[in-house]
Amino acid sequence: MGGEVLRLDDVAVHRDGAALLRGIGWTVHEDERWVVIGPNGAGKTTLLQVAGALMFPTGGTTEILGERLGEVDVFELRPRIGISSAALAERVPPDEKVIDLVLTASYAIFGRWREEYDSSDVTRAVELLDQLGCAHLIRRRFGTLSEGERKRVQIARALMPDPELLLLDEPAAGLDLGGREDLLQRLTALASDPKAPTMVLVTHHVEEVPSGFTHALLLRRGSVMAAGPVEQVLTPDHLSRTFGLPLTIERGPGGRWYARAEYIP
Ligand SMILES: Nc1ncnc2c1ncn2[C@@H]1O[C@H](COP(=O)(O)OP(=O)(O)OP(=O)(O)O)[C@@H](O)[C@H]1O
Ligand SMILES: [Mg+2]
Repeated sequence: MGGEVLRLDDVAVHRDGAALLRGIGWTVHEDERWVVIGPNGAGKTTLLQVAGALMFPTGGTTEILGERLGEVDVFELRPRIGISSAALAERVPPDEKVIDLVLTASYAIFGRWREEYDSSDVTRAVELLDQLGCAHLIRRRFGTLSEGERKRVQIARALMPDPELLLLDEPAAGLDLGGREDLLQRLTALASDPKAPTMVLVTHHVEEVPSGFTHALLLRRGSVMAAGPVEQVLTPDHLSRTFGLPLTIERGPGGRWYARAEYIP
């Protein structure tokens, strides 16, 4: 078991009188890959924002990469964390070139502002895009990419500063079957790479859990329903309670998970 990357103790987030998260206890170690699963509105994105030092909890203690929120300068912490989310993608100017979008990640800004980058930076950006199957897109503008291409470019960008923690919020949302499977394959490869950062991936679907992901956290109405090794957490009982209907879940060839409502044959 590696060192602690995240430790949340009794964390709560309240906004406008609503409890978005309550009593969250969660520890993530270096060599673990986590999925966070739960219905719409469960608090998954909120939890990821806390883990990414983008949101300050109302209560409890949060330690990220050995630093305690409230005591650390978040501007020093954030560059150590890679995040890909729909909210961030919306902020990308449509005419931004793919290569520049990845290059500027080192500076945590959008829009290329420096004319010259180190050639090692350019090499790394191209390698990451290639690793995600986007080498042919480097000169394209972000606004012209398909949904699936955007997701892959965003992950390359999130990896660019060589983060210690990688947070992916619904990376497969909006992808067609081929796009989803392709992304899953790349995430599976990343999960098995010992040099890859610790990962937390948010999804609605157990079918989108890449093999190689070791742990799962189930969230419902801001509370943890179950958390731990995937095979202990992804059970019919836990899943049914999390989504509020009787569900069955099976593990197929290659370790993929499949879930469906119990009353559908
Ligand atoms: N400022 C706010 N005031 C009140 N409620 C809020 C506020 N911001 C978010 N919420 C609510 O908090 C809940 C959790 O939101 P969150 O985005 O974390 O859910 P989620 O699990 O990511 O959902 P989805 O699967 O739809 O992305 C939602 O019901 C949302 O409406
Ligand atoms: Mg969300």
